[in-house]
Amino acid sequence: MATSIVTDSFLSSKSLRLHPRAAPSTPGLRSPRFFVASAVRSAATTVEIQSPNERFKPYRINLNEKTHSMPPQKVEIFKSLEDWAEDNILVYLKPVEKCWQPQDFLPDATTEGFYEQAREIKERAKEIPDDYFVVLVGDMITEEALPNYQTFLNVLDGVKDETGSSPTSWANWIRGWTAEENRHGDLLNKYLYLSGRVDMRQIEKSIQYLIGSGMGAGMENNPYLGFMYTSFQERATFVTHGSTARLAKPYGDHNLTQICGTIASDEKRHEVAYTKIVEKLFEIDPDGTVQAFAYMMKKKIVMPAWQLYDGRDDKIFDHYATVAQRIGAYTARDYGDILEFLLGRWKVEGLTGLSSEGRKSQEYVCELLPRMRNLEERIISKAKQAPKIPFSWIFDREA
Ligand SMILES: [Fe+2]
Ligand SMILES: [Fe+2]
Repeated sequence: MATSIVTDSFLSSKSLRLHPRAAPSTPGLRSPRFFVASAVRSAATTVEIQSPNERFKPYRINLNEKTHSMPPQKVEIFKSLEDWAEDNILVYLKPVEKCWQPQDFLPDATTEGFYEQAREIKERAKEIPDDYFVVLVGDMITEEALPNYQTFLNVLDGVKDETGSSPTSWANWIRGWTAEENRHGDLLNKYLYLSGRVDMRQIEKSIQYLIGSGMGAGMENNPYLGFMYTSFQERATFVTHGSTARLAKPYGDHNLTQICGTIASDEKRHEVAYTKIVEKLFEIDPDGTVQAFAYMMKKKIVMPAWQLYDGRDDKIFDHYATVAQRIGAYTARDYGDILEFLLGRWKVEGLTGLSSEGRKSQEYVCELLPRMRNLEERIISKAKQAPKIPFSWIFDREA
């Protein structure tokens, strides 16, 4: 899991709003201590805690957050899938000895050649524009908030790691997945440090804020919702890391292309695993699963780094998302593509034998795609016209 960005305009689009957001705020200025944001098509009431000193706590909380929404009898479904997950899901984790490690892409500080290799990284990075670095930093911070995502998985009923070292297949997956993901933030962090282009202290603060805030993705401890979410997110991170790999190419930075491309291929493997879990749920419980899918899309997918903060800019997540949209690292079109991919992957349109609720859900998700497609161009051109703003991550240069 990692970055997934939906643009500011996408967020503010009434019909597709992903999460009730705060009123506009001026960077550096704080609104009154509590701000109740209005929710669009959602019963949720989001409260913002505005004191900067409180930012080691979640600062946007959904007061109506449901918990344990999956009926208790459905926990049994996940228990009964233990052996299936062992044979079909754990195979998507690579043995540690066969995994790449960040050191494979970085200068070796134990050798004399270290200084020369580090200098080369810095030289190559000079060619790359600030816009690109803002996106790479946002991606890296999102990866570095991994504790939030392991927690996210460990509150899902029926699959959570009950002891912290539980031998169940689900728990083995959660720990193994986390361990693989940990290399992503680690590698990007070290690369960015060596690039000499970014304000590492501001970035490190942002990571601390984000982990302190938690994630609060609103999954209601419900693994149906949780695995829909991870399916979406892994696909989104595959797309965005793939884009940063591609965008580094014209600047001749093959090392950076390789770094981002290697991370993207991990994300792809994780996407295959999570979408397979949901495929199995569609097979066992098509009605419940299609309703969960529609519920997720109506409820809006909250991005993993939506609570991003750097100590200065309240809307830094939106600003980062706009830059990503502008340079084509992750756009509204990608968002629609992911939905289209998932609809096809799970053959949602062809589901039969559904209850009337199930059919309504099926209709809803299938009709959502053309509605999104209609908005894409407008959203992308709006992001392209958005004014550049200063980012603390690049020493207040504008991007
Ligand atoms: Fe991932
Ligand atoms: Fe990742």
